[in-house]
Amino acid sequence: MKGTFPIDKFQEIQTPFYYYDTNVLRQTLKTINEEAGKHEGFEVHYAVKANANPKVLNIICQAGLGADCVSGGEIQAAIKAGFPASKIVYAGVGKSDWEINLGLEKGIFCFNVESIPELEIINELAEKQNKIAQVCFRINPDVGAHTHANITTGLAENKFGIAMRDMEAVIEEAAKMKNIQFLGLHFHIGSQILDMGDFEALCNRINELQNQLEAHHIVVKNINVGGGLGIDYNHPNRQPIPNFKDYFDTYAKKLKLRDGQKLHFELGRAVVGQMGSLITKTLYIKQGTAKQFAIVDAGMTDLIRPALYQAYHKIENISSDEPVETYDVVGPICESSDVFGKAVDINKAHRGDLIALRSAGAYGEIMASQYNCRQLPKGYITEDF
Ligand code: LLP
Repeated sequence: MKGTFPIDKFQEIQTPFYYYDTNVLRQTLKTINEEAGKHEGFEVHYAVKANANPKVLNIICQAGLGADCVSGGEIQAAIKAGFPASKIVYAGVGKSDWEINLGLEKGIFCFNVESIPELEIINELAEKQNKIAQVCFRINPDVGAHTHANITTGLAENKFGIAMRDMEAVIEEAAKMKNIQFLGLHFHIGSQILDMGDFEALCNRINELQNQLEAHHIVVKNINVGGGLGIDYNHPNRQPIPNFKDYFDTYAKKLKLRDGQKLHFELGRAVVGQMGSLITKTLYIKQGTAKQFAIVDAGMTDLIRPALYQAYHKIENISSDEPVETYDVVGPICESSDVFGKAVDINKAHRGDLIALRSAGAYGEIMASQYNCRQLPKGYITEDF
C-alpha cells in the first residue's frame, strides 16, 4: 500500500518539497500522551532539532509537550511556536554567551550542562542578570546503543556529557555557586534505537548512579533520559506510529524513580519521522550500461541522510501503477554520494512522475543545505491543501 497523498494538489507545487501528514502527527502525539500518561511523573519534550517547521512545532506544542532545544535559534523557534519557557530544556556542549543569556532572560526550565567551565559561565551570566539558573548535568553513562556510529552519543569516547567519576565533584561544585540550582541528571545514549535492551541498560546505569548519589546525601529531583526511540523505516505505511508503549513501559519497569521524582524524555525522530515525505519529481529516466537511473529533482541537499549515514528511506512512485522496475534513484547534485537508493523496485517511472521518499519527517528539512546554490525545500502540512 502507498501512503495517502493529495496528489492532484501536489501537481501545482514546485518540487522538491516536504509533505507532513498531520493525521499521522496527531495520532502519534495522542499515543505519546496516552502511553506516557499511564506513568506518574513522566514528562515528554519534543527534540526541536528533528524538525523545526513552525506549523509542525505549533501542533506539537498544542498537544502539551515541552521542547528540548540545542541552540538559541531553537529556543526562539520554540517560544515563537507557543511553547512556554517553563517547559523548555536546553542542551549542547558548546553554548555561547548570547544563547545562555537568552535562556536566562526567557526563564527556561533547565540548562543541561556538559562541563564545569560551562557551569561557571552560566553562574556568571546568571549573576549579572540576577537570576538563578536551574541545571541538570549531562552524564555520559558509557552505554552503547545498537545504532549507526555517527548517532551513538553515550560512549566514553564521545564528546558529550560529564564522566561518571566526576559526577559528585561537579554537583558539589554547583552547590557552592550562588546562581545555580541543581535539579538533576541528564542522559542521551543515541538515536534510532529499536532494541529496548539499550534503554534498559541506561535504566540500570541510572539506578546505580542514584544509589551512589544517595550515599552522598545528594537529592535528585529530575531525571532526563534524552530521546532515541527509533522508527520503522521499512514500513512507514504499516507502522506509522512507533512503539511508545514498550518504550515508556521499559522505563516504568526498569528505572527506580524516587518519590516525587520527575522523569523527562526528549523524543525527536519518534514524534515526527513517520509523518513526513520528501516529494520529488522524476526528471529523466536514463539507461546506463548496467542499470537504469531515475534522476529526480531532489538531491542530498534536500535530504542528506542517505549520503551521510547510508540511511534507508522507502521510495515510492506515487504517480504510477505500472509494473515494478528496478532503478538507482539519484539526485542532480555533483557528488557521487547523491544517491537515494540503489536497485530500488518502484512502479515504472516516467518523466514528471512524483516520487515520495518516506519517513523523512525527522532530520530531513532541517538538515537541508544550499550547496550548489539550490533553494531550500519548503514544508507543507495536510491543512495547506
Ligand atoms: N536529546 C539529545 C541530547 C540529543 O542529542 C538528541 C538527538 C535527542 C534528544 C533526540 O533524539 P531522537 O529522539 O530524535 O533520536 N541527524 C541524525 C540524528 C542525530 C540525533 C542527534 N541527537 C539522523 O538523521 O539520524
